[in-house]
Amino acid sequence: MNKVVTIHSFRQSVGKSNLTANLACLLSLQGKRVALVDTDFQGASAHLFFGYKDGDIQSTFNDFLWKKCDIAQATYDVTVRLGDQAEGKLYLIPASTQISDIMQMLRACMNIDRFTEGLEKLEKELALDIILVDTHAGLNENTLMAMAISNSLILVLHPDPQDFQGTAISVEVAQRLMVPSIKLVLNDSSPNLNPEEVSQQLEATYHCGGGSVLNHTEELLALASSQPFVLAYPDHPLTDHIKSIAENL
Ligand SMILES: Nc1ncnc2c1ncn2[C@@H]1O[C@H](COP(=O)(O)OP(=O)(O)OP(=O)(O)O)[C@@H](O)[C@H]1O
Ligand SMILES: [Mg+2]
Repeated sequence: MNKVVTIHSFRQSVGKSNLTANLACLLSLQGKRVALVDTDFQGASAHLFFGYKDGDIQSTFNDFLWKKCDIAQATYDVTVRLGDQAEGKLYLIPASTQISDIMQMLRACMNIDRFTEGLEKLEKELALDIILVDTHAGLNENTLMAMAISNSLILVLHPDPQDFQGTAISVEVAQRLMVPSIKLVLNDSSPNLNPEEVSQQLEATYHCGGGSVLNHTEELLALASSQPFVLAYPDHPLTDHIKSIAENL
């Protein structure tokens, strides 16, 4: 498969879904053919960034995994959301927000063969350059599967000691799964911290490359996941920082 990048965190609510949606948009704007797959089956949110409300979506990635539909039926072309500047393509494969589906997914994890089949079909049929996989926080069987088939893992954390220990565990697990590239993103950081020092500390602490720092940004919070920040604020310094993460994927 071409590049599969999984975005994960040990703790909840650190900014994974926002970062995933933003990276997907930037890569598509730069001409890449991108798919964003939502595997957060307990808290699906990727669809919200692209104008879909809970309940708007007919077929989801859950339906594909349960063999209720083909992957094409669970794929939504959201390129139009990027405006007329987009040189690439952006496809969304959302997860279900229906309570019965969430309960069903809690009882059994993804079938790894069906999961990889879905990603391989997506890549082939849509001629994708990159697949971004948003995940549920914490280590569970689904996130381990997503990590295991990834070429690259982005671990998002907050500048909070509670995150540091958990992230160390995630890094160790990813290393044992032999994920070829592991990168850290410290999100919601304070502008008082020196990003270069923090980045060096991250790399020294976790022995991973590419420690990036994204500051707490009120404008992003105010968007409340209604759209990707990089589309609403293309000239904001935070957009530049997310661009440099996208460029180094
Ligand atoms: N850099 C930032 N500055 C300010 N607010 C942020 C920033 N990044 C994320 N947030 C806010 O933090 C909250 C959580 O973000 P998001 O949903 O992307 O996290 P998540 O890790 O995907 O959460 P979950 O674990 O529930 O899936 C949202 O309200 C979002 O607007
Ligand atoms: Mg999320």
